[in-house]
Amino acid sequence: MEKISRTKIVDLLKREDFGAMVNVKGWVRTRRGSKQVNFIALNDGSTINNVQVVVDLGNFDEEMLKLITTGACLSVNGVMVESVGSGQKVEVQAQEIEVLGACDNTYPLQKKGHSLEFLREIAHLRPRTNTFGAVFRIRHHMAMAIHNFFHERGFVYFHTPIITGSDCEGAGQMFQVTTMNLYDLKKDENGSIVYDSDFFAKQASLTVSGQLEGELAATALGAIYTFGPTFRAENSNTPRHLAEFWMIEPEVAFNDIVDNMDLAEDFIKYCVQWALNHCMDDIKFLNDMFDKELIERLQSVLKEDFVRLPYTDGIKILEKAVLDGHQFEFPVYWGVDLASEHERYLVEHHFKCPVILTDYPKEIKAFYMKQNEDGKTVRAMDVLFPKIGEIIGGSEREADYDKLATRIQEMEIPMKDMWWYLDTRRFGTCPHAGFGLGFERLLLFVTGMANIRDVIPFPRTPRNAEF
Ligand code: 4AD
Ligand code: MG
Repeated sequence: MEKISRTKIVDLLKREDFGAMVNVKGWVRTRRGSKQVNFIALNDGSTINNVQVVVDLGNFDEEMLKLITTGACLSVNGVMVESVGSGQKVEVQAQEIEVLGACDNTYPLQKKGHSLEFLREIAHLRPRTNTFGAVFRIRHHMAMAIHNFFHERGFVYFHTPIITGSDCEGAGQMFQVTTMNLYDLKKDENGSIVYDSDFFAKQASLTVSGQLEGELAATALGAIYTFGPTFRAENSNTPRHLAEFWMIEPEVAFNDIVDNMDLAEDFIKYCVQWALNHCMDDIKFLNDMFDKELIERLQSVLKEDFVRLPYTDGIKILEKAVLDGHQFEFPVYWGVDLASEHERYLVEHHFKCPVILTDYPKEIKAFYMKQNEDGKTVRAMDVLFPKIGEIIGGSEREADYDKLATRIQEMEIPMKDMWWYLDTRRFGTCPHAGFGLGFERLLLFVTGMANIRDVIPFPRTPRNAEF
């Protein structure tokens, strides 16, 4: 076959130099036609759109033609011509075809319309579908948006460890990391495991958050963000929880909670605008296939100022809803850790726009949050979104050494693990604030997908770590 340099389909479909010789490579989505002429829809992943390859059967070897089946990988040389019937402006009149990889009829993606549940079982092949091609291209663009947003504002991308000895959120949802022989664990006289012979000579885990190390960096570099995988061994089998997910955590010296809310709102709006600017073909597809209000919802979030409301006022609204006959599965009272149904009531029914809830009871929030003067609440902020519930969790941090140390003791967090964190409050402490955005929760919002398992390539959930 003549060597012609490859044109990606995304670029080919924009060209207008009809008559040019081109090479395209990709996988067969469909093949149809008559005894004389066949039409092959070829996709190479560079765009949701296929290019139509027109094949005059008489010009090609019969044995080779038999190998052109759904899923087969082809290299095609041909003339780029203006198309009338393919839905695209451009098609390729094939002159030479090489089958790079044949694909037999056990290929599970023969026909369209597989359920998302079935596609999860073949997560190794699902990127070849229109839906997951779209989702994973959007995932890429959102990662770029995030780096751009912070880079433009002078934040330093700071890498926090994945293996750690501390439980940032204090929720005891850590996966342990060990090289010890689980069949032969050494224990002391109290029955506790002796970690002396373990790889790190101490109990170590996968991180639930990079925040604590992020704070060390912010109190030196000024403004930083992390963007990495985080792990939670929480046994929640919901459409919004993963055991392994990606989190973005900005942390900024001298910011208070209002600055923190402004940053969070600007950040999400920037990401949504970026998606509309860079991913419209894919978003249109998802809008048509899964969620007819997706584009409208994305555009409306950009226009609105997020409502900012203390937790206590949020509870009052929910209590009134109960009095008015609204049924929640879980009870509402001051002090409760809001369930997703409560968050969504505030966002979708009451305010009909994103809500930032602040000043939560200290009992339901982590030790590091700045304590309010009332002695009951902390300067926390959760950003609540339509369809999602909590998309961001953050706070102004407790900058006062004594208050922080007291809280650590009250919550029975081992002080000896925290000496390095407390040092920031001993040596030139400063007000600072930050938050964590769940990357997959953002993707749920931007793609309109309903299940978090469908916005990460290989989801890790309870009893599931295939692929
Ligand atoms: O609210 P979280 O637990 O806050 C923190 O981890 C803080 N250290 C963040 C900070 O202040 N730097 O988690 C932050 C966000 C949540 O709002 C949610 O979007 C996401 O992380 N998240 C999850 N996403 C998917 N699966 C899970 N199991 C998640 N747990 C939290
Ligand atoms: Mg939270």
